Amino acid sequence: MMNDKKILFSGMQATGSLTLGNYLGALKNWLNLCDDYECFYSVVDLHSITVRQDPAELRKKARNLLMLYIAAGLDPEKNCIYYQSHVSGHAELAWILNCFTYMGELNRMTQFKDKSAKHADNINAGLFTYPVLMASDILLYQTDVVPVGKDQLQHLELTRDIAIRFNSIYGDVFTVPEPYLGKAGAKIMSLQDPTKKMSKSDENPNASIYLTDDRDTVIRKFKRAVTDSEARIHYCEEQPGVSNLIEIYGAVTGKTFEEVEKEFEGKGYGDFKLAVGEAVADLLTPLQTRFNELSQDKAYIDKIIKENGEKADYYATKTLRKVQKKVGFPERIR
Ligand code: TRP
Repeated sequence: MMNDKKILFSGMQATGSLTLGNYLGALKNWLNLCDDYECFYSVVDLHSITVRQDPAELRKKARNLLMLYIAAGLDPEKNCIYYQSHVSGHAELAWILNCFTYMGELNRMTQFKDKSAKHADNINAGLFTYPVLMASDILLYQTDVVPVGKDQLQHLELTRDIAIRFNSIYGDVFTVPEPYLGKAGAKIMSLQDPTKKMSKSDENPNASIYLTDDRDTVIRKFKRAVTDSEARIHYCEEQPGVSNLIEIYGAVTGKTFEEVEKEFEGKGYGDFKLAVGEAVADLLTPLQTRFNELSQDKAYIDKIIKENGEKADYYATKTLRKVQKKVGFPERIR
C-alpha cells in the first residue's frame, strides 16, 4: 500500500496545550519520519469526549493542535494530519472490534483505572472502551509502527492481541503493529517537580513550558524552576532539577552534557537559568510566528483539513470494507 513505505500512525489528544516536553521528546523526532514512513497523525477528538469537554473549547483546541504540528515543522503535504471525527471508519471499526475484545482485558487497563478514579462522577462506557477505539485507529490504516510513550504501551499490546485474534478467525486482515523504537527523544521533566514528567495536563502552569508561551513567560518560568542545593551546574541523579535544565539546554542547542557543564563552570544558577530560558525562547519564536501566520490563513488550513481527511478516509474505508465483508455484512449497494 502507498508506495511500499511502511505505515506509521499516531494519535494525539487536543486536551491541554503542547509543551516543550512534547516537542523535544516526540514531535522534533517525527519531522523526518515521512522520508521513511507513510505517516498519519490524527487529532483524536472522538477520544476527547470520554471526559466532559466544552464544545467551543474542544473545537478550538483541536484546530490549534493541528496548526501547532504544522508550525513545528510537520509538513502537511507529506504527513496526513487530520481529525479523527472526519473519518467515520474509526467509530465503525470500533464497534466491530468491541465484539472481539473481552471485558476482562479492558478491566486490566491501568489508564482506565486511573481515569475512573479521577473522574468518579463520569465513569462512562466510552472511557471503558477507549482502548478499542485506539486499536481501531491503528488497525484501520494497516499500521506497521506506532510511536507511543510508556503510558500507551499497554493499549498497543491490546491492539496487537485484538488484531491477532481477528486474523486467527478471518485470515490476514490486519497488519499487527509494533511500537516504533526510533531515536529516543529528550526526556523533559516538570520545572516544579523534576521527578515528574513535564505534562500538558499539569495543574500548575509554572511546571510546563507551553509552545505558545511568549519570551517573558518562558524566561520567568525558568527563573522559578526548582533547582538543587549543590549550586553547581552538574548532571547527576542527586540533582534532578539542574539535570533537567541541562537536558533541556542540551536538546535545544545540540550540546552534550559535558559541553554544557563546561560552558557554565563556575557560574551560578541565575546565569544558567537565564541562558536556558533564552535558548528555549529563541527556539519557540519562529514556531510561534508560523503558528500566527497559519491562524490567519483560514483557507489554507481548511484545505489541509479537507485533503488530508479525504486521504485518511480513502485508506480507512479500504480496510473497513474488507472487515465488514469478513464478519458477514451484506455487500454495500453504494
Ligand atoms: N490514547 C493516546 C493518548 O492518550 C492517544 C491515541 C489515540 C493514540 N489513538 C491513538 C496514540 C493511536 C497512538 C495511536 O496519548
